[in-house]
Amino acid sequence: MTPTLPPTPALIPADRLPALLCAMPKAELHIHIEGSLEPELIFQLAQRNGVALPYASVEALRAAYAFTNLQSFLDIYYAGASVLLKEQDFFDMAWAYLLRAQADNVVHAELFFDPQTHTARGVPMETVIGGLHRACTQARAELGVDASLILCFLRHLSEQDAFETLEQALPWRDRFIGVGLDSSELGHPPEKFARVFAHCRGLGLRVVAHAGEEGPPAYIWSALDVLKVERIDHGVQSAQDPVLMQRLARERVTLTVCPLSNLKLCVFPDLAQHNIRQLLDAGLAATINSDDPAYFGGYMNTNFLETFAATGMNAGHAYQLARNSFEGSFIDAAARQRYIAQLDDTFASFA
Ligand code: HPA
Ligand code: ZN
Repeated sequence: MTPTLPPTPALIPADRLPALLCAMPKAELHIHIEGSLEPELIFQLAQRNGVALPYASVEALRAAYAFTNLQSFLDIYYAGASVLLKEQDFFDMAWAYLLRAQADNVVHAELFFDPQTHTARGVPMETVIGGLHRACTQARAELGVDASLILCFLRHLSEQDAFETLEQALPWRDRFIGVGLDSSELGHPPEKFARVFAHCRGLGLRVVAHAGEEGPPAYIWSALDVLKVERIDHGVQSAQDPVLMQRLARERVTLTVCPLSNLKLCVFPDLAQHNIRQLLDAGLAATINSDDPAYFGGYMNTNFLETFAATGMNAGHAYQLARNSFEGSFIDAAARQRYIAQLDDTFASFA
């Protein structure tokens, strides 16, 4: 193995920080692929599939993206996904995201998808998983972006519905690496899905869940203790609970934080008040991710650039964030070591 130079974030001049944020290799661990559907592609697919949209133009649709909380976003996000009908539609959506990922030096991505949003409209599971998986396979070969899929259960639906969805997906078990939990958080605590998550763990699936985006620290505790998740998606409300913060730091639980999402859904009043820097400085394994980039104003590098500009984080934070993204990703030890070596090389070249 080739030895790598140690990272030297303290030696990197401040004016080189934006270029470094863009250039450094990183993993994206929190992206809902349906949330990467840009208004232009929504209109293109609507036309291709003969789906009527309640918006007159791309501009009118984009103008409706003024959210007050998570639910106000979800209503429009599920409406946008209604144009996805054919295998090619799912491929086109994922391919567009993977091209953007490559441009942002995202070398590894774990994509959430919401099968219930599609199967409830009569789209077969095979169509959904087939198109997304084909894009992931092609990205590995043609873009050098390593991508895998995580099937999310919609938490506003029943646990029984989640079990049925899992059953429908199991013929394609080799095409997704794990399961997650998303949609409306308040009133739908993790423990509602205790049995289906236990079943998934028994099948050898990796497990993650959204918790502490809008919901209380108690939801983060139960995601860890009842669902036994390996990562917490969002988790920013952990800052309200000092004992939870200590646990997350001690156990190095990865938090997949999404700053522009939190801003657009009014979780924080402005980016300068976002707590990502506080989480990192307290020793938590936080990462930066885009969540639903077509709706929240930016892909990975925009999230990094805007968050660093607003919070005054430095190159040391940049190194921690990128390193945490590889440490928290569901890859094998050899790939992790390779990515971290690439990260160290990038930092050395900027010093
Ligand atoms: N939170 C919960 N569910 C979601 C989100 C989110 O930010 N994005 C897409 N589904
Ligand atoms: Zn999310």
